[in-house]
Amino acid sequence: MSSAKLMGMQNKINASALPIGVFDSGVGGISVLKHIRDLMPHENLIYVADSRHAPYGNQTPEFIQERSFWLAEFLLRQGVKALVVACNTATAAAVAGLRERYPDLTIIGMEPAVKPAVAATKTGVVGVLATIGTLKSAQFAALLEHYGQGVEVVTQACVGLVECVEKGALTSSSTKALLKQYVQPLLDAKADTIVLGCTHYPFVRTLIEELVGKDVVLIDTGAAVAKHLKNSLQENQLLRASDEVGGVSFWSNNEGADTQGVISALWGDQVSVAHMI
Ligand code: DGL
Repeated sequence: MSSAKLMGMQNKINASALPIGVFDSGVGGISVLKHIRDLMPHENLIYVADSRHAPYGNQTPEFIQERSFWLAEFLLRQGVKALVVACNTATAAAVAGLRERYPDLTIIGMEPAVKPAVAATKTGVVGVLATIGTLKSAQFAALLEHYGQGVEVVTQACVGLVECVEKGALTSSSTKALLKQYVQPLLDAKADTIVLGCTHYPFVRTLIEELVGKDVVLIDTGAAVAKHLKNSLQENQLLRASDEVGGVSFWSNNEGADTQGVISALWGDQVSVAHMI
Protein backbone atom coordinates (compact mmCIF):
# COMPACT_ATOMS: atom_id res chain seq x y z
CA MET A 1 0.00 0.00 0.00
CA SER A 2 1.33 3.45 -0.88
CA SER A 3 2.25 5.71 1.99
CA ALA A 4 -0.26 8.35 0.77
CA LYS A 5 -3.07 5.79 0.91
CA LEU A 6 -1.92 4.62 4.33
CA MET A 7 -1.90 8.21 5.57
CA GLY A 8 -5.40 8.76 4.16
CA MET A 9 -6.64 5.70 6.08
CA GLN A 10 -4.89 6.89 9.23
CA ASN A 11 -6.60 10.29 8.95
CA LYS A 12 -10.00 8.58 8.59
CA ILE A 13 -9.34 6.48 11.69
CA ASN A 14 -8.35 9.59 13.64
CA ALA A 15 -11.35 11.54 12.35
CA SER A 16 -13.73 8.74 13.30
CA ALA A 17 -12.78 9.21 16.97
CA LEU A 18 -13.99 12.84 16.89
CA PRO A 19 -17.36 13.78 18.40
CA ILE A 20 -20.66 14.43 16.62
CA GLY A 21 -22.07 17.92 17.18
CA VAL A 22 -25.82 18.33 17.65
CA PHE A 23 -27.65 21.63 18.05
CA ASP A 24 -31.14 23.02 18.46
CA SER A 25 -32.77 26.32 19.42
CA GLY A 26 -32.99 24.84 22.90
CA VAL A 27 -33.50 21.54 24.66
CA GLY A 28 -35.83 19.94 22.08
CA GLY A 29 -33.04 18.38 20.04
CA ILE A 30 -32.29 16.15 23.04
CA SER A 31 -35.19 14.03 21.72
CA VAL A 32 -33.02 13.41 18.62
CA LEU A 33 -29.84 13.02 20.66
CA LYS A 34 -31.48 10.11 22.50
CA HIS A 35 -32.09 8.26 19.23
CA ILE A 36 -28.47 8.91 18.17
CA ARG A 37 -27.22 7.59 21.50
CA ASP A 38 -29.41 4.45 21.27
CA LEU A 39 -28.30 3.68 17.73
CA MET A 40 -24.61 4.58 18.13
CA PRO A 41 -23.66 4.22 21.80
CA HIS A 42 -19.93 4.33 21.03
CA GLU A 43 -19.99 7.81 19.54
CA ASN A 44 -18.89 10.85 21.49
CA LEU A 45 -21.62 13.49 21.40
CA ILE A 46 -21.71 17.22 22.05
CA TYR A 47 -25.11 18.87 22.42
CA VAL A 48 -25.62 22.62 22.23
CA ALA A 49 -28.88 24.28 23.34
CA ASP A 50 -29.28 27.86 22.12
CA SER A 51 -32.00 28.38 24.75
CA ARG A 52 -31.32 32.09 25.25
CA HIS A 53 -32.56 32.58 21.68
CA ALA A 54 -35.45 30.09 21.78
CA PRO A 55 -37.98 29.88 20.35
CA TYR A 56 -36.67 30.11 16.80
CA GLY A 57 -40.19 29.51 15.51
CA ASN A 58 -41.18 33.18 15.64
CA GLN A 59 -37.84 34.55 14.40
CA THR A 60 -36.84 35.59 10.88
CA PRO A 61 -34.96 33.09 8.67
CA GLU A 62 -32.00 35.53 8.67
CA PHE A 63 -31.78 35.49 12.45
CA ILE A 64 -32.01 31.69 12.57
CA GLN A 65 -29.33 31.38 9.89
CA GLU A 66 -27.02 33.69 11.83
CA ARG A 67 -27.52 31.66 15.01
CA SER A 68 -27.00 28.38 13.13
CA PHE A 69 -23.68 29.61 11.71
CA TRP A 70 -22.63 30.67 15.20
CA LEU A 71 -23.54 27.27 16.68
CA ALA A 72 -21.83 25.39 13.84
CA GLU A 73 -18.64 27.41 14.41
CA PHE A 74 -18.84 26.73 18.14
CA LEU A 75 -19.07 22.98 17.49
CA LEU A 76 -16.40 22.99 14.79
CA ARG A 77 -13.99 24.66 17.21
CA GLN A 78 -14.50 21.56 19.36
CA GLY A 79 -13.46 19.42 16.41
CA VAL A 80 -16.73 17.69 15.50
CA LYS A 81 -16.69 15.26 12.57
CA ALA A 82 -20.37 15.76 11.72
CA LEU A 83 -23.14 18.23 12.46
CA VAL A 84 -26.77 17.40 13.22
CA VAL A 85 -29.27 20.23 12.99
CA ALA A 86 -31.73 18.72 15.48
CA CYS A 87 -34.31 21.38 14.71
CA ASN A 88 -36.90 21.48 11.94
CA THR A 89 -37.07 25.28 12.03
CA ALA A 90 -33.29 25.76 11.75
CA THR A 91 -33.06 23.12 9.02
CA ALA A 92 -35.60 25.01 6.92
CA ALA A 93 -33.84 28.35 7.47
CA ALA A 94 -30.19 27.38 7.50
CA VAL A 95 -29.18 23.90 6.35
CA ALA A 96 -28.60 24.97 2.74
CA GLY A 97 -26.38 27.83 3.92
CA LEU A 98 -24.48 25.51 6.27
CA ARG A 99 -23.86 23.01 3.46
CA GLU A 100 -22.61 25.81 1.24
CA ARG A 101 -20.28 27.11 3.93
CA TYR A 102 -18.94 23.67 4.94
CA PRO A 103 -19.07 21.55 1.77
CA ASP A 104 -16.82 18.81 3.19
CA LEU A 105 -18.66 18.35 6.46
CA THR A 106 -21.33 15.68 7.04
CA ILE A 107 -24.42 17.76 7.87
CA ILE A 108 -27.74 16.13 8.73
CA GLY A 109 -30.90 18.20 8.89
CA MET A 110 -34.51 17.23 9.51
CA GLU A 111 -38.01 18.01 8.29
CA PRO A 112 -41.50 17.04 9.43
CA ALA A 113 -42.26 13.39 8.59
CA VAL A 114 -44.97 14.14 6.02
CA LYS A 115 -43.95 11.27 3.72
CA PRO A 116 -44.42 8.41 6.25
CA ALA A 117 -47.57 10.08 7.59
CA VAL A 118 -49.12 10.18 4.13
CA ALA A 119 -48.25 6.49 3.71
CA ALA A 120 -49.82 5.65 7.09
CA THR A 121 -53.12 7.55 7.02
CA LYS A 122 -56.35 5.62 6.51
CA THR A 123 -58.74 8.55 6.78
CA GLY A 124 -56.74 10.48 4.18
CA VAL A 125 -56.17 13.30 6.67
CA VAL A 126 -52.75 14.01 8.16
CA GLY A 127 -52.10 16.58 10.88
CA VAL A 128 -48.80 18.41 11.29
CA LEU A 129 -47.83 20.16 14.53
CA ALA A 130 -44.84 22.48 14.02
CA THR A 131 -43.52 25.99 14.55
CA ILE A 132 -44.67 28.98 12.49
CA GLY A 133 -41.16 29.16 10.99
CA THR A 134 -41.32 25.59 9.71
CA LEU A 135 -44.87 25.86 8.40
CA LYS A 136 -44.16 29.13 6.59
CA SER A 137 -40.93 27.89 4.99
CA ALA A 138 -40.40 27.20 1.30
CA GLN A 139 -38.96 23.79 2.30
CA PHE A 140 -42.23 22.80 3.94
CA ALA A 141 -44.21 23.96 0.90
CA ALA A 142 -41.94 21.80 -1.27
CA LEU A 143 -42.43 18.84 1.08
CA LEU A 144 -46.21 19.15 0.74
CA GLU A 145 -45.94 19.53 -3.00
CA HIS A 146 -43.81 16.36 -3.20
CA TYR A 147 -45.51 14.04 -0.72
CA GLY A 148 -48.82 15.62 0.24
CA GLN A 149 -50.72 14.88 -2.95
CA GLY A 150 -53.96 12.93 -2.66
CA VAL A 151 -54.43 13.52 1.06
CA GLU A 152 -55.54 16.45 3.16
CA VAL A 153 -52.72 17.89 5.27
CA VAL A 154 -53.93 20.03 8.17
CA THR A 155 -51.21 22.13 9.76
CA GLN A 156 -51.19 23.66 13.22
CA ALA A 157 -48.60 26.08 14.60
CA CYS A 158 -48.07 25.47 18.33
CA VAL A 159 -47.11 28.91 19.64
CA GLY A 160 -45.94 28.74 23.26
CA LEU A 161 -45.34 24.99 23.38
CA VAL A 162 -41.56 25.20 22.98
CA GLU A 163 -41.47 27.51 26.02
CA CYS A 164 -43.32 24.88 28.09
CA VAL A 165 -40.71 22.24 27.22
CA GLU A 166 -37.84 24.70 27.82
CA LYS A 167 -39.17 25.15 31.39
CA GLY A 168 -39.54 21.41 31.83
CA ALA A 169 -43.33 21.76 32.18
CA LEU A 170 -44.06 18.46 30.45
CA THR A 171 -47.19 17.44 32.32
CA SER A 172 -48.59 20.66 33.78
CA SER A 173 -52.24 21.55 33.33
CA SER A 174 -51.34 24.71 31.39
CA THR A 175 -49.26 22.70 28.89
CA LYS A 176 -52.15 20.27 28.55
CA ALA A 177 -54.64 23.11 27.97
CA LEU A 178 -52.38 24.62 25.30
CA LEU A 179 -52.00 21.27 23.57
CA LYS A 180 -55.73 20.61 23.64
CA GLN A 181 -56.26 23.85 21.79
CA TYR A 182 -53.76 22.78 19.10
CA VAL A 183 -54.76 19.15 18.74
CA GLN A 184 -58.53 19.64 18.63
CA PRO A 185 -58.68 21.17 15.11
CA LEU A 186 -56.72 18.17 13.78
CA LEU A 187 -59.15 15.76 15.42
CA ASP A 188 -62.11 17.77 14.12
CA ALA A 189 -60.66 17.42 10.62
CA LYS A 190 -60.51 13.60 11.19
CA ALA A 191 -56.72 13.32 11.12
CA ASP A 192 -55.68 9.77 12.11
CA THR A 193 -51.94 10.45 11.79
CA ILE A 194 -50.19 13.40 13.41
CA VAL A 195 -46.63 14.48 12.67
CA LEU A 196 -44.61 15.91 15.55
CA GLY A 197 -42.83 18.47 13.38
CA CYS A 198 -40.68 20.08 16.07
CA THR A 199 -38.05 18.31 18.16
CA HIS A 200 -39.46 19.75 21.38
CA TYR A 201 -42.82 18.01 20.92
CA PRO A 202 -41.78 14.36 21.56
CA PHE A 203 -41.25 15.46 25.17
CA VAL A 204 -45.00 16.07 25.50
CA ARG A 205 -45.92 12.95 23.57
CA THR A 206 -47.67 11.38 26.57
CA LEU A 207 -49.95 14.41 26.91
CA ILE A 208 -50.67 14.38 23.17
CA GLU A 209 -51.47 10.65 23.33
CA GLU A 210 -53.90 11.28 26.16
CA LEU A 211 -55.65 13.95 24.11
CA VAL A 212 -55.84 12.14 20.77
CA GLY A 213 -56.52 8.60 21.99
CA LYS A 214 -54.97 5.35 20.87
CA ASP A 215 -56.40 5.28 17.36
CA VAL A 216 -54.33 8.24 16.23
CA VAL A 217 -50.72 7.50 15.20
CA LEU A 218 -48.03 10.01 16.19
CA ILE A 219 -44.95 10.22 13.99
CA ASP A 220 -41.64 11.70 15.07
CA THR A 221 -38.50 12.03 12.94
CA GLY A 222 -35.80 11.39 15.56
CA ALA A 223 -35.17 7.71 14.77
CA ALA A 224 -34.96 8.38 11.02
CA VAL A 225 -32.46 11.20 11.61
CA ALA A 226 -30.24 8.91 13.70
CA LYS A 227 -30.38 6.24 10.99
CA HIS A 228 -29.55 8.74 8.28
CA LEU A 229 -26.62 10.00 10.34
CA LYS A 230 -25.32 6.47 10.88
CA ASN A 231 -25.50 5.71 7.14
CA SER A 232 -23.66 8.92 6.28
CA LEU A 233 -20.92 8.25 8.81
CA GLN A 234 -20.58 4.71 7.51
CA GLU A 235 -20.32 5.89 3.89
CA ASN A 236 -17.61 8.37 4.87
CA GLN A 237 -15.79 5.81 7.06
CA LEU A 238 -16.39 8.03 10.05
CA LEU A 239 -18.12 5.60 12.43
CA ARG A 240 -16.15 5.31 15.66
CA ALA A 241 -14.50 1.91 15.89
CA SER A 242 -14.44 1.38 19.63
CA ASP A 243 -16.13 -0.83 22.21
CA GLU A 244 -16.10 1.95 24.78
CA VAL A 245 -19.32 3.82 25.45
CA GLY A 246 -18.93 7.37 24.14
CA GLY A 247 -19.16 10.51 26.26
CA VAL A 248 -21.95 13.08 26.04
CA SER A 249 -21.43 16.72 26.91
CA PHE A 250 -24.01 19.47 27.09
CA TRP A 251 -23.72 23.21 26.52
CA SER A 252 -26.38 25.87 27.01
CA ASN A 253 -26.59 29.67 27.11
CA ASN A 254 -29.77 29.66 29.17
CA GLU A 255 -29.67 32.11 32.02
CA GLY A 256 -31.54 32.01 35.28
CA ALA A 257 -33.63 28.90 34.78
CA ASP A 258 -32.80 25.45 36.17
CA THR A 259 -30.98 24.44 33.00
CA GLN A 260 -29.13 21.54 34.59
CA GLY A 261 -32.31 20.12 36.12
CA VAL A 262 -34.34 20.42 32.92
CA ILE A 263 -31.64 18.93 30.68
CA SER A 264 -31.00 16.07 33.13
CA ALA A 265 -34.73 15.31 33.27
CA LEU A 266 -35.09 15.31 29.48
CA TRP A 267 -31.93 13.25 28.97
CA GLY A 268 -33.00 10.80 31.68
CA ASP A 269 -29.77 10.99 33.66
CA GLN A 270 -28.05 13.53 35.87
CA VAL A 271 -25.66 15.54 33.69
CA SER A 272 -23.67 18.70 34.12
CA VAL A 273 -24.23 21.48 31.61
CA ALA A 274 -21.42 23.83 30.59
CA HIS A 275 -22.33 27.47 30.07
CA MET A 276 -21.60 29.18 26.79
CA ILE A 277 -21.96 32.90 26.13
N1 DGL B 1 -37.02 22.42 18.18
C1 DGL B 1 -37.19 23.22 17.05
C2 DGL B 1 -37.82 22.55 15.88
O1 DGL B 1 -37.64 21.36 15.70
C3 DGL B 1 -37.42 24.69 17.17
C4 DGL B 1 -38.38 25.17 18.14
C5 DGL B 1 -38.32 26.66 18.31
O2 DGL B 1 -37.33 27.14 18.83
O3 DGL B 1 -39.27 27.34 17.90
O4 DGL B 1 -38.47 23.16 15.08
